[in-house]
This record gives sequence, C-alpha cells and structure tokens, in this order.
Amino acid sequence: MSRSDLTPLLRDRRSVRAYDADHVLTDADLASMVEAARWAPSAGNSQPWAFLVARRGDRAHQAFVPVLAPSVARWAPAASALVFTLHQVASGPEADALLYSDYATYDLGQAVAHLGVQASALGLSCHQFAAFDHDRLAEVAQVPSHWRVTTGIAVGLGVESEVRPRTRRPASEVAYGARFGEPVS
Ligand SMILES: Cc1cc2nc3c(=O)[nH]c(=O)nc-3n(C[C@H](O)[C@H](O)[C@H](O)COP(=O)(O)O)c2cc1C
Repeated sequence: MSRSDLTPLLRDRRSVRAYDADHVLTDADLASMVEAARWAPSAGNSQPWAFLVARRGDRAHQAFVPVLAPSVARWAPAASALVFTLHQVASGPEADALLYSDYATYDLGQAVAHLGVQASALGLSCHQFAAFDHDRLAEVAQVPSHWRVTTGIAVGLGVESEVRPRTRRPASEVAYGARFGEPVS
C-alpha cells in the first residue's frame, strides 16, 4: 500500500508554492468549495466554522496580504484566493449557542479537508498556512471576540515545476491495535 493506491483526488494533492497569477477563481468554483465545507460533518451538527474569503486584487485581498508572514508572502498572494478559517470558541452572551462545541477545532479541520478535496476535484491546489499575524487579521476583518482565526488557505491553479521530497511517518506508527503502540492485529 502506498500513496499511489489512493483515489487521485488525495494521491495528487500537495501543498504547492507556485500559483498561476493570471488564474481567476470563478464564482461557481468558490461556491462549490464553500458548499463542500458546509456539508462536512460536525459534532451535534454545530457547524462551528466561518471563512474569510479574499480574491486576488479585491479589497479583502489588499487588506489581508499585509498580515502574511514573509515566508508565506513569497508565494500566497499569487494564488487566486486567500481563505482564512475561523471557529467559534465561546458560548458567551454574544455567541451563537448552536455553534459552540468542544470539538470546534476538529470540525473546522474536517470542513477544510472537505473544501480541499472539492478544490482538488476542480483541478485547484490548496496550501494551508499558519504563518500570519492572527491578531492583526482579526482586527482588520473585525472578527467578533468569540471567534478564533485559525489558518489560512491559498487556493489557485498550481504551477509548481520543482517537486520537493515529501515524507510521512510509517503507517505502523499511526495505526495501533489493542494497545497504544501495539501493531494492528
Ligand atoms: C495547520 C497547518 C499549518 C501550516 N502552516 C504552514 C505555513 O505556515 N507555511 C507553509 O509553507 N506551509 C504550511 N503548512 C503546509 C504543511 O507544511 C504541509 O501540509 C506539509 O509539509 C505536508 O506537505 P503536503 O501538504 O505537500 O503533503 C501548514 C499546513 C497545515 C495543515
């Protein structure tokens, strides 16, 4: 069993660092990725996620690019869109009680995974990133205090020619049997 045995949507996914700076993300493609996230499972159907979407060149993009760390600012602004992910963290008076969940980070991650698979199906590449000024983004986008900005995702047409070596921990260190650390029977 190896990566080549996976469904092509997962097999061919990787975090590219070069995007076609002329590619425009269509409304339909964006709507389709958001739809994939919307229909992800979540604890108690709490759906504790939200997204900030900036398309290259629009007002949101101009506002968000300055919060990127230099390491990400080298490649992410060329992507067709920057999507920032948020999850609700509190159930205080201003918060939406229906969106509160102890599993909010798990659920957000899963929604993003679904968004990413849908992007792959559309022939697009996603590169998630944490290297940005989270507080500054929350300020710029006026994110309410019961929401936490979590990650960013560059979405676009990947044009990377150089493929960096990729490694993973062995399956034997990921899936265990009766006891943690014991092989699957
Ligand atoms: C939560 C999260 C944060 C990440 N942060 C960064 C980042 O700040 N900069 C970066 O270049 N890549 C970032 N990545 C991408 C990972 O480095 C990448 O997924 C990992 O090296 C595996 O490579 P692959 O996605 O091509 O398989 C992040 C990925 C995740 C899921």
